[in-house]
Amino acid sequence: MNILLTGGSGNLGSRLIVPLVQRGDRVVIFDMQDKPFIPSAEFKQCAFVRGDLTDREAIVQTVQDEKIDSIFHLGAILSAQAEQERDKAWTINMEGIRNALEAARLGGVKKFIFSSTLATYGSNLPSPLDIDSPMWPQSLYGVTKVAGELLGVYYHHRFGLDFRAIRFPSVIAPRGMLGGAGRFTSEVFLEAVEKGAYEFYLRPDSSIPIVYIADAIKSFLLIHDAPEKNLTRRSYNIHARGVTPGELETVVKARLPHVKITYQPEPIQTAMVDSWPHSIDDRHAREDWGWQETYDLERMADEVIATLQKQKDSSHE
Ligand SMILES: NC(=O)c1ccc[n+]([C@@H]2O[C@H](COP(=O)([O-])OP(=O)(O)OC[C@H]3O[C@@H](n4cnc5c(N)ncnc54)[C@H](O)[C@@H]3O)[C@@H](O)[C@H]2O)c1
Repeated sequence: MNILLTGGSGNLGSRLIVPLVQRGDRVVIFDMQDKPFIPSAEFKQCAFVRGDLTDREAIVQTVQDEKIDSIFHLGAILSAQAEQERDKAWTINMEGIRNALEAARLGGVKKFIFSSTLATYGSNLPSPLDIDSPMWPQSLYGVTKVAGELLGVYYHHRFGLDFRAIRFPSVIAPRGMLGGAGRFTSEVFLEAVEKGAYEFYLRPDSSIPIVYIADAIKSFLLIHDAPEKNLTRRSYNIHARGVTPGELETVVKARLPHVKITYQPEPIQTAMVDSWPHSIDDRHAREDWGWQETYDLERMADEVIATLQKQKDSSHE
């Protein structure tokens, strides 16, 4: 199968190519950045198109030249940067999905997978969060993701494109997303290993929903491969669990007892995290396409810390 992966050099994209290439898919990466977030042998086996998602012709041409069957659309400007560079985020996130959907239509692409976010919902939400809760995001990033989902569903109804979206919670990864109020979930591991200390900008009991990166990658494959007849909707929520700084302190200290953890709650970020739900209703993904997390907090902490320690040791050699 020929797969186009926009944003394929990024945090999630550079990891998603690994199982795709390993199972025999031919992957074409479309990104402005040719250096992968995570280098791999599989990345080198992909075709690479250096292109800008706002360039309609470039993406249409790539889809046609490469005879693309499926598109994974991950290229975007993320939440923290979007608030800093609103015009850029609006252009890339809005024009990006419009151009990718149009390229899919013109190129006869069968499936289109969109990487969305729980930031589509806004704040002061009930927990567990019902999937059909109103979507009134409070960030520009969330606004562009709601619009992207709506446009994709329009292409489904109007042109028959098999559009599917996943709304991710905070994705924990070694060197994961380090912008936005949810960054502590990855940052605590990084600073614990690199500096031996971390100061949470939240209370120990502030809580947000998370998923581990390996499970997020698994979810992309599951939703892509699910038979269309199993789908009861076009956009799905997933999460593994809610997590608090206090729980993260416990798993970090169990592995790195010397690490100094402190708390200095910062009012704005604390209020933001407090307004997010602790738990998500993701039973539609579980029932329709078999979503199931494979990592609990302990296994995730083992893997993140081991990866960061290996990277630290090799950078000192
Ligand atoms: N990481 C998370 O916690 C998280 C959570 C929810 C949703 N998501 C979504 O998943 C997707 C991937 O996230 P990520 O963490 O890998 O982000 P990332 O910033 O690491 O990757 C985004 C990629 O998009 C590329 N890109 C940006 N603008 C472009 C343009 N104009 N043309 C071509 N390429 C462009 C970047 O070069 C980068 O490689 C995004 O759509 C994001 O909104 C991520």
